[in-house]
Amino acid sequence: MEQVTFIILGVTGDLTKRKLIPAIYQLIKNKKIKNLAFVGISRSATSIEPIIAAAEKFIGQKDEQSWKLIKQSSYALAMNFDNQEDYQKLALLLKTIEQKHELPGNRIFYFATLPEHFSTITTSLSKNGLTTTNGWSRLVYEKPFGWDLASAKNINKKILNVFDEKDIYRIDHYLGKELVSGIAFLRFTNRILEPLLNNKHVDSVEITMTEKIGIEGRGNYYDKYGVIKDIIQNHGFQLLALTAMEAPLKLAGGHIRDQKARVLKKTRLAEITLGQYKGYLNEPNVAPGSRTPTYARARFEVNTKAWKGVPFIITAGKNLAAKETSITINFKLAECRIQSCPTEPNTFKIRIQPDEGVSLNIYTKKPGTQEISPVEMNFSQGRFEANTPEAYGTLIEDVIRADQSFFVREDEIELSWKIIDNIPSDLPVVIYAQGSKGPP
Ligand code: BG6
Repeated sequence: MEQVTFIILGVTGDLTKRKLIPAIYQLIKNKKIKNLAFVGISRSATSIEPIIAAAEKFIGQKDEQSWKLIKQSSYALAMNFDNQEDYQKLALLLKTIEQKHELPGNRIFYFATLPEHFSTITTSLSKNGLTTTNGWSRLVYEKPFGWDLASAKNINKKILNVFDEKDIYRIDHYLGKELVSGIAFLRFTNRILEPLLNNKHVDSVEITMTEKIGIEGRGNYYDKYGVIKDIIQNHGFQLLALTAMEAPLKLAGGHIRDQKARVLKKTRLAEITLGQYKGYLNEPNVAPGSRTPTYARARFEVNTKAWKGVPFIITAGKNLAAKETSITINFKLAECRIQSCPTEPNTFKIRIQPDEGVSLNIYTKKPGTQEISPVEMNFSQGRFEANTPEAYGTLIEDVIRADQSFFVREDEIELSWKIIDNIPSDLPVVIYAQGSKGPP
């Protein structure tokens, strides 16, 4: 059981109440953290109570003891990230709080700000001695890490000037989802899968990341980034890389990151359709006449020996008919030696959410006939656990344990941006109806 000081930079964003406070609460409840302080920082946060209160409805059934600990250990500080004196104020506040709560000075600085602020804050934290304590200090950066290749490189350079890669955690919360962290296990522990996952047997791979929700008041951020930088550059490419990577030497840490980077190095965009939901222009803080895409369907080539020629199609979008995150592997049709042959491929599907699980579609003979019938073999994750752990909880626990396996390394980030930078900025953006399946 650990004792930690959480410092959330950019605390007033949605992420704090929806994900971060509930995740920390779960870690307390599950006895992973025994003592903590929670310090929320933003330009305007002067009181922590409303933020904690707003998080309450996202924590499910409440354990009063754990909730009380959070409430009693939470503080706010309003800071101008460009003002060095404010960092001194923060240093003093942290020292006082850590003494009061008898904490050893293990600090997690969580950057929930826009990436524009990453390097200034990081450099200032170091300059003002905030990361030098009797305990450890780790830095967690929310995605997107940068907004193009040049900015990502620049941020990496500046933060690596003052910290080691081992203390840097670039978070992609999809890597904390059970079914995503399980992809490598599925692929490399089943003899009946891995030998088939290549261009000899696979026709195409579909990665679906559709959402029912819109931009939920995040116009300021979203209008600058859009679906490609919000979803595809990070979550989409991580799913692609985990699906296409070669077997790592071991199913752990650096080995997986090495193999993912190899895939990203060989990935190119081949074709893309962009869309924007009707009504997007009326959302708060969206620029008049904005062409920011809220939908993309893109075909990528993965030019490795195993996957050359197999299209990887990523579909992502907001305000669509259904929430679905999945990876579907469509196999080539079998050589058929009967009269009524299958017309649809065998598929292997990893359902990341909702209804987490995996399924395999095969053909069997219809009893009493000479015909075939498609059947589904299905595994539901719920068989193990009714409530699979929340991604943010799993990843914050990894930060506390100093396990970087499910965080994104410097080279992966830069390789991902390199693919995105090649997408022309003047592509047509088709308007689609809310609740539809996107542009035709
Ligand atoms: C975030 C994006 O990274 O992922 C959001 O910024 C998106 O726009 C969210 O809604 C989707 O996450 P999940 O876990 O709900 O699939």
